Formats: sequence, structure tokens, C-alpha cells
Amino acid sequence: MTVGTKADWDEPKQVTKFPRAIPDAELSFLQRVRPDIPLKDLREMLLKWWIETMKLGTQKYGCVRELYFLRTSVDCNPRYPEALARSHSGRWWIDIGTAFGQDARLPVLDGWPSNRMLASDLTPDLWEAGLSLYPNPHNIKYITANVLTSGPSAEHLEAFRGSAEVVSSNLVFHTLSKEGVDGMLSAILNLLVPGGLLLGSCAACIEARQWTEYDPGRWLHSQKSLRQAFETAGFDQVIIEPFDLPEGHNDHGKIGIRFSGLKPCSASAEHAASAEHAASAET
Ligand SMILES: C[S@@+](CC[C@H](N)C(=O)[O-])C[C@H]1O[C@@H](n2cnc3c(N)ncnc32)[C@H](O)[C@@H]1O
Repeated sequence: MTVGTKADWDEPKQVTKFPRAIPDAELSFLQRVRPDIPLKDLREMLLKWWIETMKLGTQKYGCVRELYFLRTSVDCNPRYPEALARSHSGRWWIDIGTAFGQDARLPVLDGWPSNRMLASDLTPDLWEAGLSLYPNPHNIKYITANVLTSGPSAEHLEAFRGSAEVVSSNLVFHTLSKEGVDGMLSAILNLLVPGGLLLGSCAACIEARQWTEYDPGRWLHSQKSLRQAFETAGFDQVIIEPFDLPEGHNDHGKIGIRFSGLKPCSASAEHAASAEHAASAET
């Protein structure tokens, strides 16, 4: 499949087949969510669902139009076990830019309390389309919110300020401008409790640059520049590590980065009041 430019993907598409070979191994998360359905039927169900989903015009992201959301990302992060080990905190795990929600569903399957998992995205389209693929028996809470804006709306992430033990965000940073990534890091710091953990992944480049060949409005960080962005925002104990992007996405020096960092504990005074405010966000 040719990636093309973002403008090539702004309209709904009629499709009849998957855009690439999907090995059985990639259906393992779907199998875990739908254990009642045999693999062959699951594949057929996925194809029908995929054809309908592509008619919605939701394919402007590569991970969507090439079904990379079948693979979970969060468990590939070296700090995933550390994130799960915080499940007794009684605080929230917030997955930002959740799309179909696989990285919000996996921690719940792995033991994170479902009533403390929040999935959030800029638009509800993908979450809603995803419900017929990944049912939501655990009633994971979802809100539509732009992580880059703030305001008093009850539906807004602002209601969760200072209440997240863990924030995850996979494949979102590279959809933003450089300033957007800075804004998102600072918004995530506001959501985390002191000592709270951010973990996630993004597409990146050997040398930081605009993603000119696809969408010049997007910024590709390098390992070095993303570390700097984390440290400038105020994160501690930052871990940045590269991984190989799938074939067809690793041209022009592009790589993947898994990242994580902690909100410093010294911010505790500033956030004590907002943690109380978070009680009003409870379901
Ligand atoms: C490339 S998709 C990745 C989705 C999912 N995390 C995954 O790994 O499959 C990027 C997602 O980020 C969301 N997003 C982009 N900008 C955002 C913002 N400012 N606030 C919240 N979500 C945003 C998009 O709506 C989209 O669902």
C-alpha cells in the first residue's frame, strides 16, 4: 500500500479487502476480547466491520487504515508492568487519543480496575465504531476531549486534573505539531498525580523534522529532541527507546519511539487541591 499524503485520505473509501496481510498472530488481542468466536469467523467479522468502518471517513490515520490497532502498543512499553503495579492506587489510568480503545481495554483485561480506566479522544467516531468490534462489557468510561484545550466543561479532561496515576498515549504525538507535543506533555503533567507515570509511543525520525512528505503540519521528534521536550516540560526518569516501524513506514529515516517519564513528586503541594477536585469526576 502506498502511504501518499494526508489529503489522499480525507474522504471515505470503498474497500472490499484488507489493505495488507493480517497474520493470525495479529488477531490475538481480538481473540482475547471475543473468546467466544472461532478465529475464522473472527476474521470474517473483522472484514465486514472494516468495510463499514472505511465508509465513515475515519481513515486519516495510518494506524487505522492499515489496521495496526489490532496490535496493542501499551504492553510493548518497558514500563507497562510498573504501570499495572499501580492498580491499587485507586486512581485513574487515562488513555489519550484512544481511537478504538485497544490500549485502554488491555490494562483492564490485565487487572487494572475498569471503574478507574478512562478512554478519551478528540472525536468519538473511532471509539463508537470500535464498540461493535470490541464490546465494552467492563463499561470503560469514555469522554470526547481535546487534550490541548482546557475549560470547565464536565465532559472535559480538566475534571480529571491531578487524578491520574497513569496516562498512556500511543501513536498520537506524531499527529501533532512540535508545539502541540509540548502542549500535550504539559496537559498530561496536569492530569497526573505527583509521581504519576506517562507511557506511550509515537512515530519519529533519526533527525527531528517536519513530516513534509505526508503532512507538513506534523512534527517528527528524534530520540534526542523528544527527551528534551519531556525534560523541558518537567518529567523525571525519562526513558526513550527506539523500535522498528512496520515495512512501508520506515522510509525517510522514520523510526518508532517508546517513551515514558514520571511527574516529579515535588509538585505535590501544587496538586493536592486538584486531586480533591478530581473526586467530582468519579462515575
Ligand atoms: C494515529 S491515531 C492513534 C490511535 C490509538 N492510540 C492507536 O494506537 O491505535 C491518533 C489518535 O489521536 C487522537 N488525537 C489527535 N489529536 C488529539 C488531541 N488534541 N486530543 C485528543 N486526541 C487527539 C486522534 O483523534 C486519533 O484517534
